[in-house]
Amino acid sequence: MKLQRVTDREGMVYASSIHNLLFDDPWDPQKAKAVWILWSEGEPVGFCSIDETKWVPGAAFVSYIGLLASARGRGLGRRMVRVCTKWAREAGYERIVSYTWVENVASARSFLREGWDYYYPEGTAPGYIWFIKYLIP
Ligand SMILES: CC(C)(COP(=O)(O)OP(=O)(O)OC[C@H]1O[C@@H](n2cnc3c(N)ncnc32)[C@H](O)[C@@H]1OP(=O)(O)O)[C@@H](O)C(=O)NCCC(=O)NCCS
Repeated sequence: MKLQRVTDREGMVYASSIHNLLFDDPWDPQKAKAVWILWSEGEPVGFCSIDETKWVPGAAFVSYIGLLASARGRGLGRRMVRVCTKWAREAGYERIVSYTWVENVASARSFLREGWDYYYPEGTAPGYIWFIKYLIP
């Protein structure tokens, strides 16, 4: 398994195609701050991305973490949380946030086990849980 940052058009097309398989909202990888693809035997099996969010101004935001079913259950979600956190720290962000829906235990565990905490941004919709990691020492 290789987790690789992508910046080229071909990489963005791969990220977009995995996004479209897993999520039903619109997303333009070209506008993301950073995008990674997880490769397994030459095939893309997952992706993660950082954008920003109006709910927590100034923070880095893990907009997506997604694995095809064949790649789940092996802690790769955590690995992607780790790469996003490292990138945000190196990019100078003071905090990084993300959210998931309340039933998504695998997603929640992936953040919590990487040392993130629960977070409660004001005004966000019910049914979702937010997570935060402070990056300043
Ligand atoms: C969310 C996702 C990235 C998690 O990645 P993953 O590597 O498959 O996660 P794992 O299966 O290794 O599980 C992570 C943790 O959750 C736990 N877990 C998973 N499902 C669980 C369940 N139903 N009940 C309790 N714990 C569960 C695992 O035991 C593991 O905990 P541990 O680290 O303490 O052992 C992946 O499942 C995925 O892509 N899902 C579809 C897309 C998605 O939901 N993305 C997130 C949107 S916010």
